[in-house]
Amino acid sequence: MNFAKSQKYWEETAQKQKKLKESLTHSDRYLPQLETSAILSYISSGDSILEIGCGACDNSIPYIKKCKNYTGVELIQAFVELGRKRIREKSLNNAEIIPGDGYLYVLNKEITQDVLVTQRFIINLKDRDTQLGFFRAIRERNRGRKIKLIICEGFEKELRNLNKFRKIAGLEEIRIAEYNNFLDYRFLRDVEEIGYRIVDEVAFNTYFLITRLFNNNKFAKPGSEIAKIAFSLEKEKFIKIDREVSYSKIFVLEI
Ligand SMILES: C[S@@+](CC[C@H](N)C(=O)[O-])C[C@H]1O[C@@H](n2cnc3c(N)ncnc32)[C@H](O)[C@@H]1O
Repeated sequence: MNFAKSQKYWEETAQKQKKLKESLTHSDRYLPQLETSAILSYISSGDSILEIGCGACDNSIPYIKKCKNYTGVELIQAFVELGRKRIREKSLNNAEIIPGDGYLYVLNKEITQDVLVTQRFIINLKDRDTQLGFFRAIRERNRGRKIKLIICEGFEKELRNLNKFRKIAGLEEIRIAEYNNFLDYRFLRDVEEIGYRIVDEVAFNTYFLITRLFNNNKFAKPGSEIAKIAFSLEKEKFIKIDREVSYSKIFVLEI
């Protein structure tokens, strides 16, 4: 039994990734770099980290290198194997990958780590109740210990805003993939009601606006100049955009 919205999709993706030897858990070359460096800024060297839905650890190596110890949980066996191989190849001995369902893991285990990371995992849970249940389970099992959650997930309203821009530009709308359940602000209010405090928020509005609007493709081609420019502008925080269009966002929460 598992709580993934589409196990089949991830199984097929993991098999393809094994053959192609390139990351297929992201459709964008620069976004993971922006996300990962933002996530890293919230991790300290003494932290023990639990990452749920770590995939093949495509983004996790910098977290493992920075923290004291790391546990990844991943549903798909082929991803588990790829992740373990990557950790071995980097000679890292402070990390382990546990195969299994991430929701069941937090439901049944006491969370002893300081930091919990998700990078596009909560949106893969099968429905809203399970997504909220994930936060409830952590809250109930951590026995009053302080824990920091760094969640990097997809957000509905920001995608709607971006699609408004795209419509004006005559571009077709970007749809949420059928294996995803994006989050929204009502959901975050419910999470706060469970007992979490939102302590920070990171968005990448410049990057999304430029790569999804001024490029005629749905996503910028890997390595295309426009994406590189967008990446640099985002890093510099050069442009102020007054409408949120970053449909991937990071929230840092505490209990
Ligand atoms: C979008 S990918 C992200 C992978 C990785 N975090 C990254 O940033 O590259 C989502 C991952 O969550 C895993 N996943 C989906 N549902 C899961 C579940 N119920 N329990 C554990 N892992 C799950 C998928 O197999 C996949 O590896």
